[in-house]
Amino acid sequence: MKFFVPALLVAAAISHHSIACTTDDDCNLNGWTASDCGQLDLRPATRYTGYNRTAEGISSWGAKIIHDPFDSKTFHLFMAEFVNGCGLNYWSPYSRVIRSTSSTGPEGPYHFDGEVVGTFAHNPTVVYSEADQLYILIHIGCPVTVVPEGCSSTAPFSCGPGNTYAGDSGISAWSSTDLRNWTSHGQVMPGNANGTWDSDTTNPSPFPLWSANDHTDQMLMAYRGCIWNCANGLEHIGIAVASNFTGPYTRAHGQPIITENTEDPFLWRDKRGNFHMLVHSLDSGDGLGHGPNVGYHAYARNWDGEWTYNNNTLAYSTYVSFTDGTATNYSRRERPQLFFSEDGNQTPLFIANGVQEVDSPQSYTIVQPIGDGAKEYIKSLGF
Ligand SMILES: *[C@@H]1O[C@H](CO)[C@@H](O)[C@H](O)[C@H]1NC(C)=O
Ligand SMILES: *[C@@H]1O[C@H](CO)[C@@H](O)[C@H](O)[C@H]1NC(C)=O
Ligand SMILES: *[C@@H]1O[C@H](CO)[C@@H](O)[C@H](O)[C@H]1NC(C)=O
Ligand SMILES: *[C@@H]1O[C@H](CO)[C@@H](O)[C@H](O)[C@H]1NC(C)=O
Ligand SMILES: *[C@@H]1O[C@H](CO)[C@@H](O)[C@H](O)[C@H]1NC(C)=O
Ligand SMILES: *[C@@H]1O[C@H](CO)[C@@H](O)[C@H](O)[C@H]1NC(C)=O
Repeated sequence: MKFFVPALLVAAAISHHSIACTTDDDCNLNGWTASDCGQLDLRPATRYTGYNRTAEGISSWGAKIIHDPFDSKTFHLFMAEFVNGCGLNYWSPYSRVIRSTSSTGPEGPYHFDGEVVGTFAHNPTVVYSEADQLYILIHIGCPVTVVPEGCSSTAPFSCGPGNTYAGDSGISAWSSTDLRNWTSHGQVMPGNANGTWDSDTTNPSPFPLWSANDHTDQMLMAYRGCIWNCANGLEHIGIAVASNFTGPYTRAHGQPIITENTEDPFLWRDKRGNFHMLVHSLDSGDGLGHGPNVGYHAYARNWDGEWTYNNNTLAYSTYVSFTDGTATNYSRRERPQLFFSEDGNQTPLFIANGVQEVDSPQSYTIVQPIGDGAKEYIKSLGF
């Protein structure tokens, strides 16, 4: 296991030291902190924000913050929540997609407001498509309407090609104008044929290519692929593209764009047109219950060109400091999803992650502010 000193991260976050990059590539096509700009400038989170129902025995995993289009003081969090009080180990088939809301700002706390997709539905994310004037909800899973009592491993089930035991392959889409009433478009990106590196296709991260200069309907989909049933345990990242959000999505590269053992991509384009991803690393000493080296950044000038995976600088670790002066080293911190500024600069302002504390079967969702912009944004809304 690698040794890592979170104090370095804290020092970097506090000093906001100036950045000495000479070219864009020196700087991860980015403007964050650390000498290569590859580290998120995380600020202390506030305890009991995000979505944390572990005191009630309810676990959640991975969330996307969306600002309500009609009410500037309402924020929504779309996430996976497990029924029957099951913990993270029983995500399949006990996961469903829910919506919660906050009237106290983007950090929350968020409160349950309804189920969006029943069991088995997992890995939700929501993006706004300007081309369609619709919110698009993307997730994995397929109906398992009657789940076993309690929390137990179920009989093997499949949601299509790629995985025959846990429904862990195949991506579905829904759309909505108001974030509350959703219309299904069915499965839009099934798993791939046996024998490919990405037979098992999951962890969707859609990104609409529409811009003010190019009113395209095209949609990207970053995803995690592995061989059939993930038989070798290795996970990699790919990107697919479709003429519109309903698919079909065509895998853009024959090989993974990130060959390190990674999952949970979160894809976006910055204001200059460069593409970025945050991913969850599974390398030894990282990822699954070992930490702390979980969050990495990758970037590309063109989504279908060459991607650079920055394995030198951690974008974020399992260490989270809180405004009350305490800190937690989480056992797991996965599913990075960003909330961006609404001023056209696409500045990351908040990160949401699924987290699990050491020796706990439960999991919840944290929201952590990024940079000075987070506080300014909250203030600008009148909170
Ligand atoms: C989440 O809730 C649990 C149970 O109340 C509590 O122990 C923990 O500190 C909370 N975590 C955060 C980050 O608020
Ligand atoms: C939900 O949306 C559909 C499709 O736009 C629409 O036909 C239906 O009337 C809406 N239902 C409610 C309750 O708003
Ligand atoms: C997929 O291919 C592997 C390796 O050839 C084989 O062992 C496995 O049975 C195949 N699975 C299916 C469902 O075809
Ligand atoms: C999306 O693309 C598909 C395939 O090209 C096409 O059949 C469908 O009509 C399109 N849907 C929308 C909403 O544009
Ligand atoms: C980073 O990746 C390069 C190229 O894949 C590899 O040679 C190097 O050992 C990696 N460094 C670390 C610290 O993992
Ligand atoms: C987090 O882990 C680091 C490295 O092991 C340790 O120095 C630090 O005290 C830990 N902090 C907390 C709050 O547990």
